[in-house]
Amino acid sequence: MCGIVGYIGHRDASSVVLEGLKKLEYRGYDSAGLALYDGEILKVTKTKGKVSALENKLQNSGNTDGSIGIGHTRWATHGVPNDENSHPHYSNSGELVIIHNGIIENYDSIRKELTKRGYQFKSDTDTEVLVNLIEEIQNKTNLKLGESVQLALKEVVGAYAIAVFDVKKPNEIVVAKLGSPLAIGIGTNEYFIGSDASPFLEYTNKAIYLEDGQVASIRLNKSIKIWEIDNNRPIPVLVQELKMSLEATEKGGYEHFMLKEIYEQPNAIKDTYRGRLLINEKLIKMAGVEENLERFTNADRIIIVACGTSWHAGLVAEYIIEDLTRIPVEVEYASEFRYRNPIITSKDVIIAISQSGETADTLAAIKLAKQNGAFVFGVCNVVGSTIARETNAGAYTHAGPEIGVASTKAFTTQITVLTLIALKLGLAKKTIDNNTFLRLISELNEIPEKLIKTLNCNNTALDIAKVYKNSTNCLFLGRGYNFPVALEGALKLKEISYIHAEGYPAAEMKHGPIALIDENMPIVVVAINKGHYEKTVSNIQEIKARKGKVIAIVTEGDITVKELADHVIEIPETLETLSPLLTTIPLQLFSYHTAVLLNKNVDQPRNLAKSVTVE
Ligand code: M6R
Repeated sequence: MCGIVGYIGHRDASSVVLEGLKKLEYRGYDSAGLALYDGEILKVTKTKGKVSALENKLQNSGNTDGSIGIGHTRWATHGVPNDENSHPHYSNSGELVIIHNGIIENYDSIRKELTKRGYQFKSDTDTEVLVNLIEEIQNKTNLKLGESVQLALKEVVGAYAIAVFDVKKPNEIVVAKLGSPLAIGIGTNEYFIGSDASPFLEYTNKAIYLEDGQVASIRLNKSIKIWEIDNNRPIPVLVQELKMSLEATEKGGYEHFMLKEIYEQPNAIKDTYRGRLLINEKLIKMAGVEENLERFTNADRIIIVACGTSWHAGLVAEYIIEDLTRIPVEVEYASEFRYRNPIITSKDVIIAISQSGETADTLAAIKLAKQNGAFVFGVCNVVGSTIARETNAGAYTHAGPEIGVASTKAFTTQITVLTLIALKLGLAKKTIDNNTFLRLISELNEIPEKLIKTLNCNNTALDIAKVYKNSTNCLFLGRGYNFPVALEGALKLKEISYIHAEGYPAAEMKHGPIALIDENMPIVVVAINKGHYEKTVSNIQEIKARKGKVIAIVTEGDITVKELADHVIEIPETLETLSPLLTTIPLQLFSYHTAVLLNKNVDQPRNLAKSVTVE
């Protein structure tokens, strides 16, 4: 999704903004650009492609001077990815310049009005319309930039995080937000802007997170002014001290963020249950659940809303929560839930799962649920994210920054948090006995060690990837708790290697997918020694009878599947409830190596964005 960066201060704005854009590359984008002002000329450089292409273009043009600058990575919504549609955009007078993350839905009617009044447009974007609307208001009213931006935003429908400056007053950047994230970094006599804090963490750990419906004027050597777009109400400035380190957002010796994040999972899971799973005291402490225990235990049902990998974590949670608490669980794609007039009551608990905490559809589902009186609990990774703030209560996953677009550690830490919740509720509702509780918490405590062992399958996963890297299709099968793991395995493979993949419950194979099986079809089967193991073995026999190639994930010591399968990867023995935390690892590694062998951009796959802040 688009990323925005800005700087005003005593440093060289071009390098601050460029380096900042590199930190936001993980969000996914197709073009990049930046605007600098040196007191004389506004210099706008933009290009389709990567930030490195922008850097070259900038160097060749020599347009690098300026102490005020804004930069953008664009993920196309209105208009194809090309140089012209890239941001920044400037107004017809060439004096106002803007970057924008989001969508202006009514841009077409505004554009038509402005065209009638003589405005001309170079691009197909909604953003160029917005900057000219601001200019039109400024010309008509003679208001300051902040007030003109405010009036313009009152006319638009949509979502945005914007930064604008006026070359006539180059000591000020005006920012505003509705639905897309925006952070302001505060240095000494300098200010930074970012879609998140990563572009400015190396300069300052002091930040302001703008809330929806707010506009701010950031002026050099002056304090920041924030007010509400709708009613001019001034907002007290709340500066937060950030604890995240820059190092945590870098690759740490791994070739790709994705691989680093796969390997971080033992610690990420430990960090997620640290302070919550008190093994010696034999209890689980979770403030967000405890403070709302009755809402949970009296719930008629739990509805989980999420997208993508987070939705898969929700599916795993459905099995765990229903099993341990006997509360009915429904798992919904947020994008379907929000548009289908769902039945929601005040006796429902909604759990919204999101790594980024910014996914537009999940956010809209939360708002809908709240309007209908439901209690909404968030499971997010990014601290202070919009979803974390919009929910009634929640629990963070503590996975640390996930930079690779393909979600890995977010998935396993989400399952960890949801397991803790299920255990806590199960005990409170007495739907599990103390022995079951103790067995599960003791096993959860062992999972990081078992995960370290599981990661030893890396070389085997690489060898298997070498054999199947040129396949055009791949099936993933699993049963029970490991059916969502199969879905997640398929999603990982398709999103980073572009190989078509499908996940199925193993027993569903005979209802259709079996027709696809021949000697060219690799089929990854999660076949651990729990659940309906014998039935999964039968499925493997059915595949082999049709000459399909079986890559089986088995429990260490397995004999039966080993004899049938073409390849096996062993995971340590564990309880079925917790098995997705281990079975998912070989699938992540298989996808990772396949994509690397195919020379794909693993961390930033084509067309994908890390946080999908548009619907
Ligand atoms: O930030 P979220 O968890 O809300 O994101 C949801 C999906 O966009 C995300 O999981 C996506 O499917 C990933 N690319 C999967 O690897």
